[in-house]
Amino acid sequence: MQIIILENAQQVASNAAQWVAEVIKQKTNPVLGLATGSTPISLYKLLVEKHQQAQLSFENVTTFNLDEYHNIEAENAQSYRTFMKENLFDHVNIDQEKTYLPTCRSDQNPRVQGLAYEEQIKNAGGVDLQILGIGANGHIGFNEPTSSLASRTRIKTLTKQTLQDNSRLFKKDEYQPTMAMTMGIATILDARYVLLMATGKNKAAAVKQMITGPVTAMCPASALQMHENAIILIDKDAASEL
Ligand code: GLP
Repeated sequence: MQIIILENAQQVASNAAQWVAEVIKQKTNPVLGLATGSTPISLYKLLVEKHQQAQLSFENVTTFNLDEYHNIEAENAQSYRTFMKENLFDHVNIDQEKTYLPTCRSDQNPRVQGLAYEEQIKNAGGVDLQILGIGANGHIGFNEPTSSLASRTRIKTLTKQTLQDNSRLFKKDEYQPTMAMTMGIATILDARYVLLMATGKNKAAAVKQMITGPVTAMCPASALQMHENAIILIDKDAASEL
């Protein structure tokens, strides 16, 4: 693990943007793994700026998102597809046919849909750089504590803590999905580079467990200790318990 502690969230975003830009520039057909949540929003903003300043082209980029809610229409305001469109896809020159999110429709077998996503990642040549955030309970993607370290893309039930943490993003009477399709921990570990961003004091305990704790399914992010090229970008607050 390469741990980089920076002054603040803005520096974390700009350092992450440099890594992403580097991969896009170096690879002929770059494949990015993307994350949702509030942490990577400032990274996407910087990537859009770089694109607008003609410093970065997404023409040959393919993307795979970590996760998507169960049985949600792509057009739904709460879908992760909508999040990605609003924060990145609609503002850069990416071919949206090459932007993938795991689908999880209730009228289809989730296992088949999970395997199909794994196949799509493989056919694209695998993920070059996977962006990650971290949940306050140490989850990555929607791999909640107790997720198998060998897990692949599959359906997961979200924990009470995750539902509570994410409830701020839903209006009072809006339906909040309780299940999601997520890349597994082994899927994430297959990426050539993994870049985890964490900022703020509320992530400090999870960051500590991820870096200094044992590798355990109780803290899914601790699996990154086994990755050869894991970069952990954190601000001082997220590093405050190290
Ligand atoms: C969600 C996402 C994760 C994300 C986490 C933290 O549960 N599935 O990919 O890392 O939230 O989100 P935030 O960055 O908003 O703290």
